[in-house]
Amino acid sequence: MKGIVLAGGTGARLYPITRVVSKQLLPVGGKPMIYYPLSILMLADIRDVLVITTPHDLPRFRTLLGDGSQLGMEITYAEQFHPGGIAEALLIGADHIGTDSVALVLGDNIFHGPRFSDVLARESRDVRGCVLFGYPVHDPHRYGVGEADAAGRLVSIEEKPASPRSNRAITGLYFYDNRAVNIAKNITPSARGELEITDVNRYFVAQGEARLVDLGRGFAWLDTGTPESLLQASQYVGMLEERQGCRIACIEEVALRMGFIDAAACHRLGEDIGGSSYGQYVMSIAEELTV
Ligand code: G1P
Repeated sequence: MKGIVLAGGTGARLYPITRVVSKQLLPVGGKPMIYYPLSILMLADIRDVLVITTPHDLPRFRTLLGDGSQLGMEITYAEQFHPGGIAEALLIGADHIGTDSVALVLGDNIFHGPRFSDVLARESRDVRGCVLFGYPVHDPHRYGVGEADAAGRLVSIEEKPASPRSNRAITGLYFYDNRAVNIAKNITPSARGELEITDVNRYFVAQGEARLVDLGRGFAWLDTGTPESLLQASQYVGMLEERQGCRIACIEEVALRMGFIDAAACHRLGEDIGGSSYGQYVMSIAEELTV
């Protein structure tokens, strides 16, 4: 399975901060936002990731993540010139996906919950059609909204409906089989001028091949689109990290735990930034997991 992180857009609701820095590079809980969605792909055992971002921001992402080899990964980059919609990522990433299945994640979506890595490992295996992740929210009209039957099969999906049929928001993590690329090629822009990922999903719903995994209560799917929600996300992460002494979305730790790199390589990554508490954490994890 190939991975794509979509980290485009203008971040207009975060101006003036995002006039100079990409939203997905802003700090959340002491690390760049993109570490969260990237670690989600890594936990799904995906090593080959395309980061799609604006021409302006691309060099910064490359400075941060390089070619991915330090993490035992292959990270490449592509430009999205205008915010053309989430489904456009499947077109920009068509060569990267090739004949494989794909996991697409939005660069500003933060997921955290107990045993989510097990869920990711299970759901990313042998994807048929699409697998979407639903989360109960109080304001579903702001999102894609899905309605599922008792078996977890989606029976309807709508983008920002005025009268939502359920309170299940469709989150920004999408697993697809290879047909998604051709489906994305055949959709047309919506009223807001974007290629809607919901239109791709709608195809799979019509085929009876769209599964909804319910993330349920007790899970955190956090928004980072406004100054207030960005601060709340940082507070949530910071509170958990301090209480438990762990770090959420520490990509070096994930790479080590997933077997992408060994403890010595992980330790070196910590040493490189050893002047920070993050770097010290990376070193401590490498020492703890040295066998
Ligand atoms: C997009 C999708 C929507 C999804 C949301 C998740 O909304 O169109 O279906 O629920 O991401 O973050 P947008 O951010 O484009 O309004």
